[in-house]
Amino acid sequence: MKSQIKFLLLNILCLLFLSCSKENIKEKYKIGFSQAMTTDNWRREMNKSMHLEASLHPEIVLEIKDAENNIARQITQIEDFIADGVDVLIVSPIQSIPITAVIEKAMDAGIPTIVIDRKIDGRNFTAYIGANNVEVGRNAAKYIISQSNEPAKIIEITGQEGSSPAYERSEGFRKMINKIPNLTISHIIKGDWEKASIEEELTKLLDSIKPPEYIFAHNDRMALGAWEVVKKKSLEDQIHIIGVDGLFGPNGGIQLVKDRILAATVLYPTGGMEAIKLAEDLLSDENIEKNNILKTVIIDSVNVEIMQNQFDKMKQQQNDIENQQEVIDNQITTFKSQSKLILLLIVLLGLLLILSVWSIYLVVKLRKRKRNLESSNSEILAQRNKIEEFAKKLKISNESKINFFTALSHEFKTPLTLITSSIESISERPTKESQGISYETNLIINNSRRLLRLINELLDFRKLENGSFDLRITKTEIIPFLKNIAEDFTSEALKKSIDLKFSYKCEDLELYIDREMMDKVFFNILSNAFKFTPKNGTIHIAVEEEDEKINILFRDSGIGIPKDEFQSIFDPYMQASNNTKPSSGLGLYITRQFVELHKGSIAVSSHQGAEFRISLLKGRAHLKEYVISEIQPDMDSSSNRSRVDNLIPEELEDNISLGENADSVLIIEDNLELSHLLRKKLSSEYNVHVSDGTDGVEKALEVIPDVIICDLNLPDKDGFQICQELKSDLRTSHIPTLILTALSDKESRLKALKAGADVYITKPFNNEILMESIKSALFNREKLRYYYTNRIDKVNDENFAGPEQFFLKDLNALIDANLRNSSFTVEDLASSLQISRVQLYRKVKALLGVSVNEYINSLRLKKAKSLLQESKFNISEIAYEVGYSSPGYFSTSFKKEYGISPKELKSS
Ligand code: FRU
Repeated sequence: MKSQIKFLLLNILCLLFLSCSKENIKEKYKIGFSQAMTTDNWRREMNKSMHLEASLHPEIVLEIKDAENNIARQITQIEDFIADGVDVLIVSPIQSIPITAVIEKAMDAGIPTIVIDRKIDGRNFTAYIGANNVEVGRNAAKYIISQSNEPAKIIEITGQEGSSPAYERSEGFRKMINKIPNLTISHIIKGDWEKASIEEELTKLLDSIKPPEYIFAHNDRMALGAWEVVKKKSLEDQIHIIGVDGLFGPNGGIQLVKDRILAATVLYPTGGMEAIKLAEDLLSDENIEKNNILKTVIIDSVNVEIMQNQFDKMKQQQNDIENQQEVIDNQITTFKSQSKLILLLIVLLGLLLILSVWSIYLVVKLRKRKRNLESSNSEILAQRNKIEEFAKKLKISNESKINFFTALSHEFKTPLTLITSSIESISERPTKESQGISYETNLIINNSRRLLRLINELLDFRKLENGSFDLRITKTEIIPFLKNIAEDFTSEALKKSIDLKFSYKCEDLELYIDREMMDKVFFNILSNAFKFTPKNGTIHIAVEEEDEKINILFRDSGIGIPKDEFQSIFDPYMQASNNTKPSSGLGLYITRQFVELHKGSIAVSSHQGAEFRISLLKGRAHLKEYVISEIQPDMDSSSNRSRVDNLIPEELEDNISLGENADSVLIIEDNLELSHLLRKKLSSEYNVHVSDGTDGVEKALEVIPDVIICDLNLPDKDGFQICQELKSDLRTSHIPTLILTALSDKESRLKALKAGADVYITKPFNNEILMESIKSALFNREKLRYYYTNRIDKVNDENFAGPEQFFLKDLNALIDANLRNSSFTVEDLASSLQISRVQLYRKVKALLGVSVNEYINSLRLKKAKSLLQESKFNISEIAYEVGYSSPGYFSTSFKKEYGISPKELKSS
């Protein structure tokens, strides 16, 4: 796609480039013309004819600079043309000599230079164009000669001194007149080509002399000035005036002849058009003449009409040419714009072509893709059908499974109810037999009720899933209703020293609710609060009125709920991440569903503890009429009275009634009922210590029991962690640890064994197996003890490694180092090993079966025995050597240990 766009752009650029370059290939030529001045019509006519000719050649650019009769300016302007690098230079010099040098400069620069009208000094120029001014003078003289037979006088008025036409015209005129004896040039007036330059002098002259017959002025402008002077003197009929130029148009020489102001004028063509033609020839490398002389002719009353006609025709033709030129210009403009249009059309056509090819390509591609899609679509469709079929089957099978479990749950209800009521009636019977088993019967009642509640929760969940819950709404006074539920928790509040508060502002608040549902809702929220609120905490129920609703708040000082779980805890199977208590994960889901069936809302927040806010709408407008019933249901029959477990065991305390010699067991279990039951079962044989899991490690370090029974799911540290910590602590590493857990998976078992557990028993457990496991753990330890006491010498053996061996190694080394020190105490030994005296005592007792003192003593006596056999020390010295301050006491202790006195041994 990208490459296609690039290709398109490239095409457009190429076309545009081509169109531009076409314009550029036409080479432009620059012709620079330095005009002497433009104050008179003759010069203007010259410029005009140049422009006209140049306009016929679009490749020529003509630039005319006006020197304004200023020689210095003309030189500068010519230099500018040279610097510009014009292709051809045309100059009409103001004067001959001053302009010669700069023209030679142009020639030296390689610029072909055409001199027009007036000449320069010398011949260093490319070409000259203009009429022959000697001829002009001659023509004027010829005219006078033809007109007069009588002697006649002539006044000559010359052009500006220093310009070639002035002296050439004089030359030609005089030479001719001088040939005729009758004719005399009586006076010469020097003009500067303009009439103002001669008027004064002529007036004076005419005043002083006899009027001449002829005046020859070098141009028509001065001739007109002369006529004006002559007219003032009323001599116009006597003096015949001849001019030069013969321009067409008002005040032009032709008109003056026609008007009989001038007798004649000599045609002096401007040569503008011819100069440009010459330049064109130069540019197209054609050979040209150096001198291009234009024709001149005398115009008098005889031919003036013909001349006028010719000029009119010429003018007409010129106009026609100009008009045609305009038409051509317009056509060129139209052509140019049409060319652009065509170019644009070509570009567009090209684009169209590319787009069409592209769209055809796309159509083909799309068709292919469509075909592919269609085939994969049909595949997907077939797969979907299969999945749908499979899902249907799965749904049916799921449904039947769920229905089976639902039915089963229903079935459970009856036997469970039967068990509960039978056990309740047994426990209520105050017979001698039942007294002994009251604890167990209560346990059965409580757990049967718990099971029943769980089954009810399951059935409610199922009903909600099916949408088959029907509301049965009745008008209810909410305060007594809530009070009634809260009362069920008073005994638990008492046992856990929880401050259960109930506050409200107005007692007469009525709500339309399904009592059975809302009973479950409030009961569930309250039992959660009790579950997570520790001893001496507070639970506060508050009822608040707010516009159209009533808010019921349950605030507790328990562990709270993490903020990011405020929404998800109402989802089915979810429970807060900080909740380690067993839970179905359905309670809060059912609660929210029930509240929402009432068009109410439930929200949770947590600052210190958790706060559940249930908002229910006042009145009945939000409920369908048919669900509202006027008959008050019998709440006592529907609600489970005494549904709160009434066997909430007292906080357990250690049971160490069997005396110091009995083995001790530490139970780390957060389920108080189970902990209670285990303690009951074990207390006949062992001194039992208990921990609810919050202080498992601390308790083990405190009592250094002989066996530890530990659960895995515990509120603070889990069982794996506790086991790990105890096994890596020197003070407790020797204690056999039994894991008692509901987790029966392989991973948990492996993890526990890796953490150092000795035995792994899963719930539900068999009592006998548990008892046997404890016994065998103790027996194993006994075997180990035997091993240690009999191989104590091998403690330093390298193969004899492990935490207990390291401990014994350190212990022996410390005792050995202090054998002579009679004041070395058990405290000293314990502090050197960095454990407490009791922990040392228990550890040594557990590992070696003797007290620390006995052990130290046995090591002293052992050393004494070897000294007695191998050294020459006397008995007193040996007694001191092994740390006895009294040799008598040493002898008594020795005899007690070995059945022989030191003296007897020494002498044997
Ligand atoms: C125009 C003009 C003409 C004359 C020519 C001579 O400027 O004075 O009248 O014929 O110059 O160069």
